[in-house]
Amino acid sequence: HAAPGGCPVSTQAQAFDPFAAEYLANPAAALQWSRDQEPVFFSPQLGYWVVSRYEDVKAVFRDNVTFSPSIALERVVPPSDEAMETLKRYNYQMNRTLVNEDEPAHMERRRALMEHFLPENLAAKEDMIRQLTRQKVDAFVDSGRVDLVEAMLWEIPLTVALHFLGVPKEDMDALKEFSVAHTVNTWGKPSPEQQLKVADAVGRFWQYAGTVLEKMRREPDGTGWMHHAIRMNAEIPEVVTDSYLHSMMMAIIVAGHETTSLASTNALKLLLSDRLVWERICKTPELIPNAIEECLRLEGSVVAWRRRATRDTEIAGVAIPAEAKLLIVSASANHDSRHFENGDFLDIYRDSAAEHLTFGYGSHQCMGKNFARLEMRIFIEELSRRLPHMRLSEDQQFSYLPNLAFRGPQQLLVEWDPALNPERSDP
Ligand code: HEM
Repeated sequence: HAAPGGCPVSTQAQAFDPFAAEYLANPAAALQWSRDQEPVFFSPQLGYWVVSRYEDVKAVFRDNVTFSPSIALERVVPPSDEAMETLKRYNYQMNRTLVNEDEPAHMERRRALMEHFLPENLAAKEDMIRQLTRQKVDAFVDSGRVDLVEAMLWEIPLTVALHFLGVPKEDMDALKEFSVAHTVNTWGKPSPEQQLKVADAVGRFWQYAGTVLEKMRREPDGTGWMHHAIRMNAEIPEVVTDSYLHSMMMAIIVAGHETTSLASTNALKLLLSDRLVWERICKTPELIPNAIEECLRLEGSVVAWRRRATRDTEIAGVAIPAEAKLLIVSASANHDSRHFENGDFLDIYRDSAAEHLTFGYGSHQCMGKNFARLEMRIFIEELSRRLPHMRLSEDQQFSYLPNLAFRGPQQLLVEWDPALNPERSDP
């Protein structure tokens, strides 16, 4: 498939553009050619090697020594000099967290910070999440039409994440701006003008994270994961370092809520697109957990992640040089029919649904995965119980924030006839 003229980069690889509307709308479909013909290719536009098949993506995730996660939060597009100046003014120094830390530091830190994510600690959050969800649904259940993102799917995951972290629930609107800026700064391709705005917001986010951290340090008995991390920082400062705390404070606010908001939006969009599936779920809520896995597989909120080769190596027979940067496209892997029979097809009964790579795989696999699953389950349980007759509004276009990693529609309009709400006939 090499291009004419003997160039080793094929025409399709040359044309690959992960910021193009077609790719943003459906990354798995846009990489079908790659899964079929060229599962590992170099993208000259991006400067990354792209990996698109299930087995290969999983193998890269699995070997985090050959394929270091150190570039996971690196800017895809290097900032302009002006943007750098702005960031410097805010003393911005995003560094290692967990997700981009190498071994052996990573495992020691992960172990020291695991406890709060254990199932028994998550179960204790269920009532709180359900309460919040019911309040939000109460507010719109009689209205007949709502944007689910605005009405609940953005705010609840943020509230829950802040609660989990022990971060004060102030400045929620600023956090919206900050999260978008962090995503565009890290995984986007901002224009020169956008870069300046984004750099300013990221700088303010960095300062905000520092201020919150200082405030939390003065509350030695505070509860929540970041308080735990602060205590571990005092106990084992060489494992849970100062630099880690500040970087993590910023990264986790985004990781803990944006991903879950987008995953919930994707899932509801997908389930409501197939009336039969939605009706089955409404009738049999026990189907929800596996349906969630199938939604995370088909329409995950993280579509790709990054690794750097630490030595000359190969993937599926393709030579990869040391220092090569890799874009491992989980969204493509998750649709790979070599692993998932009829990979593009929504099957809420699929036994292997949970084998998706949306949470990554191996030693860095998402620590918050069960948290996200819990929130998604509660949202879908409450909505399917109270608004089984809800439908996607027909007059809507879905738009996606242009970036390499996070994916989900920015709004999700649904409508229903409030006169038919089940609670009116059976309150
Ligand atoms: C790591 C996705 C929700 C905390 C990751 C990674 C991915 C991911 C792809 C990197 C995995 C790897 O390198 O193998 C997601 C998705 C979510 C979600 C799709 C929602 C649907 C959350 C939540 C939290 C969280 C709610 C916290 C409350 C973390 C942490 C790591 C991580 C701490 C770093 C783990 C490590 O490097 O050892 N997540 N995440 N995530 N996630 Fe999530």
